[in-house]
Amino acid sequence: MTASSLAYGTRQTDEKLERNQQKVLSLADYVGKRENFADLSIEPYAPVAGATIRGLRITRNGEIGADVRQFLYQRLLRYGFLVFEPGTVSGEDFGLLVNLFGHAEYSGTPFTPPPAENPQINTIDSKIKKTRMNFIWHIDQGFRAVLPRFTALFAKTVPPVGGDTLFSNAVAAYDLLDPRFAAYLDSLVAVYDIDAQGYLSLAYQDPAERERQRKKYPPIEAPLIRVHEETGKKQIYANEVYTQRILGLSRTASDALLAILFEQIKLPEVQARVAWHEGAAVIWDNRIVQHKGVSDYGDGHRVLHRAIID
Ligand code: SIN
Repeated sequence: MTASSLAYGTRQTDEKLERNQQKVLSLADYVGKRENFADLSIEPYAPVAGATIRGLRITRNGEIGADVRQFLYQRLLRYGFLVFEPGTVSGEDFGLLVNLFGHAEYSGTPFTPPPAENPQINTIDSKIKKTRMNFIWHIDQGFRAVLPRFTALFAKTVPPVGGDTLFSNAVAAYDLLDPRFAAYLDSLVAVYDIDAQGYLSLAYQDPAERERQRKKYPPIEAPLIRVHEETGKKQIYANEVYTQRILGLSRTASDALLAILFEQIKLPEVQARVAWHEGAAVIWDNRIVQHKGVSDYGDGHRVLHRAIID
């Protein structure tokens, strides 16, 4: 009897069939069902990440109740990102939406200046932004010792075609790993560096300012797999822009493991693609998803306002 007839010639139990194949996700672990709460509705945006919020209106004169805030916050932790339909908030009042989730601090560069109406946010404008790091999979400010919890974008100008933002549920991506391999990855620590892909020299032309930023953000050591402080779930934290190397491994082993994790984030099975509409806003949890912009809009004009939220 050959080895293959031993393996396949006999009836296999469901458990054995399951064990011998690539894993599949249980969608209910990541998204919920359509719900209504007060005047708003929420429904899943994609199979494993994201939800659309409709019916919410945020203005300077209206108060958003603590129960609605709490509902939105809990759903953000569940879905990883929330898409707010155009009309939810005006571009001038985008800060009011941001304030529902935390405190925004300016974190732009000379190429991503603050808009006149709000010094706490920065502008990603395709006519002035020079670094293209937003087109590589990353976690916002994943080089900082304390990760900003959320990022929010508001669509000021949308190009005629393209310019979507991709999200990868990095918790689901972790869950798809073989558990024995995942347990090994859990034990590893990596170096995260703002300049791992040369960001500083692209973002700061003034050498003195570049040096100041270098000193402000020295490389840090952090786990390869990060545990979310509020949900306890594990996320693939290693990302293509900021992860430099895995400590204690040879260059070859470090590069090979990182390549596997970077590919895992790119699996269509864990992704969502957000198509922008002018006046729409999105907020995401940096402790759940990774993201990237899609550079397929040629010379179309794309302007997003961005808030980094602690
Ligand atoms: C970002 O990286 O924060 C922005 C992503 C995008 O340009 O769509």
